[in-house]
Amino acid sequence: MHRHTFYTNTPAETEKIGHIIGQTLVKRDIVALIGDLGAGKTCLTRGLALGLGLPLPQKVTSPSYTLINEYEGYTPIYHIDLYRIDQCEDVWDLGLDEYLEGEGVCIIEWANIILQELPSHTIEIKLSWLDENRRSIETKNTVDLSTYTSN
Ligand SMILES: Nc1ncnc2c1ncn2[C@@H]1O[C@H](COP(=O)(O)OP(=O)(O)OP(=O)(O)O)[C@@H](O)[C@H]1O
Ligand SMILES: [Mg+2]
Repeated sequence: MHRHTFYTNTPAETEKIGHIIGQTLVKRDIVALIGDLGAGKTCLTRGLALGLGLPLPQKVTSPSYTLINEYEGYTPIYHIDLYRIDQCEDVWDLGLDEYLEGEGVCIIEWANIILQELPSHTIEIKLSWLDENRRSIETKNTVDLSTYTSN
């Protein structure tokens, strides 16, 4: 499995990277998004959802108050946000394993708190704020994306 690093200068570019990665995802994939507030996790998720066949990715918003949003693309898309979860144990109380074992693709914002407990095939994406408009996006465990992108 591959690692890639991308740099983006606008939210649209981050969404585009998400779109590319989203097109490579298959049922039961788990995407762990790691990055601080405003790093671009939700923005990237919009692209991932578009790549997974969600026609209106503007429906994708941070599910901070609901824990999970579910969308219908080519597969179900479970958009999970663990920002409000303090304890690892709480996550399992909330029934996260049902989604992880479900038929859809799981995209998890603030996945750092459970990273150790996620399956080894989990696709990890680390987003970092470089300056107001610039972000780095580092992926681990994706398919080879070099055929889809030039960097
Ligand atoms: N290159 C870029 N990529 C992504 N977002 C960018 C970029 N440049 C500026 N931004 C801005 O950064 C913010 C990213 O917000 P987003 O909600 O995606 O972050 P997040 O990581 O999901 O934050 P939270 O932890 O609050 O859920 C948006 O306001 C967006 O306009
Ligand atoms: Mg978010």
